[in-house]
Amino acid sequence: MTPPAAKLTLPELAAMKRRGEKIVMVTAYDAPGARFAEDAGVDVILVGDTAAMVVLGHDGTTVPVTMDEMLFLARTVVRAARRPIVVGDMPFGSYQVSDEDALRNAIRFFKEAQVDAVKLEGGGPASVSRVETIVAAGIPVMGHVGLTPQSATMLGGFKTQGKTADAARRVVAEAEALEAAGCFAVVLEAVPAPVAADATRRLAIPTIGIGAGPDCDGQVLVYHDLLGLTEGHLPRFVKRYANLSREIRDALEAYVADVRAGTFPDEQHTYAMADEERELFAGAEESRHAEEHDYEPDREDARSRGARPAPALHGAHADNQQPERPEHEREQEPLEDLPAGA
Ligand code: KIV
Repeated sequence: MTPPAAKLTLPELAAMKRRGEKIVMVTAYDAPGARFAEDAGVDVILVGDTAAMVVLGHDGTTVPVTMDEMLFLARTVVRAARRPIVVGDMPFGSYQVSDEDALRNAIRFFKEAQVDAVKLEGGGPASVSRVETIVAAGIPVMGHVGLTPQSATMLGGFKTQGKTADAARRVVAEAEALEAAGCFAVVLEAVPAPVAADATRRLAIPTIGIGAGPDCDGQVLVYHDLLGLTEGHLPRFVKRYANLSREIRDALEAYVADVRAGTFPDEQHTYAMADEERELFAGAEESRHAEEHDYEPDREDARSRGARPAPALHGAHADNQQPERPEHEREQEPLEDLPAGA
């Protein structure tokens, strides 16, 4: 067995930038996604607040996802990811009120989900202050400037940012302020390629682009977008590497058709029973049926055939039978002792 891969460290991430090695980041929201990402060689997994849209079904906004929901998703990712750095995305409302509130929620991510770092949006004075506070407590922070979806309404929608010279200078200045505040990396979202290239040159920490051109130190895409699980409109910057929603729909339709036609389950998906046991079971069933219908079966005859009440065998539990308990004991079994769902 190969030993589990050692966790990538933040200094190694910075060294990748210096060596000119591209950093690969992807979002994930559950253990299978994290495992697939790790096996593919992804360096950073972001448990993004895009979960609001791609997992939790909120339409076109990341705002509704709560801290508790993010913690639940982050725990599932952390359990599965070994080498990649796992970043928990701070949801709207978890850091806007005050530095103290931001720190409290960053600590929840760090302690309850055991992420390696957190990410928050914005490069203005309030965000810079939050970053300083969280970093001072020893929690690494990834910044995020350009299009910041939590403030999409303020920005006039999901629109490219930094398109004018002034706006471009603001994006770069915000990225620099986040670096000075202690961020270990910055996401640049939906900004023109020359703006991202300039920020990448100026910053010593890695820039991770999404819709920011090829010159960033790394790239990030949303898991559901790149795998074709997202249906409907996709931003221009998404490259779809698979069409999984088509595959899933085809598979589910085939399953529905099989069940309706009675062609599933077939022999290979069904547990068999030894002939001898089946006969004994049939004998016992016959006697039970006769009793239920007020009919005295020939008990001598049943006994001579070795019939006895047969325990029901259920799939994987079939090898795990408990010895049959005498009937009077079973009658006395208090209902509240039965397991839930019994
Ligand atoms: O929440 C998210 O998925 C993100 C990425 C788009 C960077 O913030």
